[in-house]
Amino acid sequence: MNHRPDFARWMADIQQRTETALAELLPAATQAPQRLHQAMRYAALGGGKRVRPLLAHAAGHLAGADAARLDRVACAVELVHVYSLVHDDLPCMDDDVLRRGKPTVHVEYDEATALLVGDALQTLAFHVLAEQPVADTAETQLAMLTLLATASGSRGMAGGQAIDLGAVGRQLDRAELEFMHIHKTGALIRAAILLGAHAGAGLNEDEMARLDHYGKQIGLLFQVVDDILDTEADTATLGKTAGKDADQGKPTYVSLLGLGEARRYAEELLADACDTLEPLGERATYLQGLAEYITRRSF
Ligand code: IPE
Ligand code: IPE
Ligand code: MG
Ligand code: MG
Ligand code: MG
Repeated sequence: MNHRPDFARWMADIQQRTETALAELLPAATQAPQRLHQAMRYAALGGGKRVRPLLAHAAGHLAGADAARLDRVACAVELVHVYSLVHDDLPCMDDDVLRRGKPTVHVEYDEATALLVGDALQTLAFHVLAEQPVADTAETQLAMLTLLATASGSRGMAGGQAIDLGAVGRQLDRAELEFMHIHKTGALIRAAILLGAHAGAGLNEDEMARLDHYGKQIGLLFQVVDDILDTEADTATLGKTAGKDADQGKPTYVSLLGLGEARRYAEELLADACDTLEPLGERATYLQGLAEYITRRSF
């Protein structure tokens, strides 16, 4: 996978500090309403690869951002992501019973609680991003709030989810599939990277444009690999039910192109993302490593 000896250690460190920061930012399970707070913690803690926090930290590293600020930015994006998973798993959406190796929130608790967990995690995300300074100026911080809102809403992730649900049982053409993936998964991943960068002060226009292009490619790549893993990996490894896409008649890169071509496309996106970072040199080393990780991951 990645040949840099300290990359695995860096990843584990960010994953650990994200877990700690989330545990502090989430309301205590003993605080009323206890059941809702317990369920929020159940959904957000103790699992997940934390890819979006990793990307935010990696981009923040490039931009010279303060690590404590990045923890907040990373948690805000992860909270939106976790909310999206809880709702994605509901019977009215993908109807999944397993997530991150545990029963989904609506199975462990109930549907109404799962709905509220999503609502509350989403608003907590914006609370976390707004509550304390995470950028050098208030203007930049407002731009960050707008960025996360756009990436999460109907012109971003929620819009992509609507397209996904509307496409069940149909094959989309390549342009339509790309549009869906860029929205349902790509938008939040791209935002994670830009938000990390905005927490620092060090990037010029060209560097920002490179980061944005990297984010666009990585966001699409992430969902292409998710589609591949759904057909290739087993449930125990994934921590979520394998083979769901074909069972539910979801259009994916695998159903459109076949496994071999989908894999080749993932490699193409990886190469393009890495090329984009090349001029940024050593400071982009974690972003390079994450691009490889996202492509070669087993879950
Ligand atoms: C799964 O996301 C949902 C998609 C957007 C494809 P992840 O693969 O990042 O899930 P966790 O956070 O590691 O559980
Ligand atoms: C989910 O895509 C994207 C979001 C949650 C926004 P999938 O439905 O493919 O994700 P998994 O496979 O259930 O994790
Ligand atoms: Mg889905
Ligand atoms: Mg799903
Ligand atoms: Mg999937």
